[in-house]
Amino acid sequence: MLSSSTIAQRRFARRSRRCAPITSWHGTSCAARSTNSTRRLPLIKPLTYGAYLGLDELLALQRPLSDPPHHDELLFIVIHQVYELWFKQLLHELQATIAALDADDLLRAAKLFRRIHTIQRLLEEQVDILETMTPQEFNAFRDHLNPASGFQSVQFREMEFLCGVGSAETLQHVVLDDDQRARLERRLREPTLYDHVKALLARRGFATGRSADLVEAYRSIYNDAEKHYDLYLLLEDLIELDERLLLWRGRHVRMVERMIGQKRGTGGSPGVSYLEKTLHYRLFPELWEVRTHLGSGSYA
Ligand code: HEM
Repeated sequence: MLSSSTIAQRRFARRSRRCAPITSWHGTSCAARSTNSTRRLPLIKPLTYGAYLGLDELLALQRPLSDPPHHDELLFIVIHQVYELWFKQLLHELQATIAALDADDLLRAAKLFRRIHTIQRLLEEQVDILETMTPQEFNAFRDHLNPASGFQSVQFREMEFLCGVGSAETLQHVVLDDDQRARLERRLREPTLYDHVKALLARRGFATGRSADLVEAYRSIYNDAEKHYDLYLLLEDLIELDERLLLWRGRHVRMVERMIGQKRGTGGSPGVSYLEKTLHYRLFPELWEVRTHLGSGSYA
């Protein structure tokens, strides 16, 4: 007498011979593929969740340096890796946003900004997770990181350069391989997000040559938002991008102070006092300036 599991296994084997598994996310039913039942199909391993996502490789990438591994070092590595993944996504979305602006497709740009802002909010909130680690816990493995630092994050610099912050001078302080240097130099040469915004405004008939022209253009757009509604929404998306980056910088520097006080950074900077200076960076200075001149406007 055969057990029910043996019967099931034999049925499965018979079915597998008739219908080779396919390579897809959820698999496809045999019925959907049995139009030519006489042809023998090669047996292909079905795609799995782990294989699609490269999980074996991904989950082997957390390699603490403390020996024996300090409990909190895994969190420290994971959180930085997660940030880098989101930086990758942000670069992808920002690039698409630039293409949308160049195509005068401001609805698409608005859709992309919604995702960008949501990711930015997450980046800010993630600092909470890191703050579950105390300074003593961090100090227990901090020496192993030296001289590595978030300061060397190539993708963060790419985002800054794309958004118009930073200069070739930044590159002098970072250890880069040839590929990374080439990527950053290309970003520095390329027009910034702001350049693309200015080109769009020029196509819409606004003067953009001088800073004062931009303030005036923004004042006109805000004061007659009904007439320039798509541009009005774009300006709000741009200021939100800028503000959320500053909020992240603010969260990061307070977390750093909470963690290391006034110690120097592992990247060689004075630490908190250096990071404080970055809180004054503005991606779109004229968008901040125009607010001083705004009244109630024609459209609320
Ligand atoms: C215990 C946690 C952390 C500490 C103590 C810390 C400390 C610092 C310090 C002192 C600097 C200044 C450069 C230096 O001398 O090293 C810095 C820069 C930076 N860190 Fe962190 N950091 C921490 C976590 C993170 C995380 C989770 C990220 C996410 C990617 C990050 C990203 C950055 C970036 C992008 C910079 C460059 C900022 C700029 O130059 O504007 N840091 N960090």
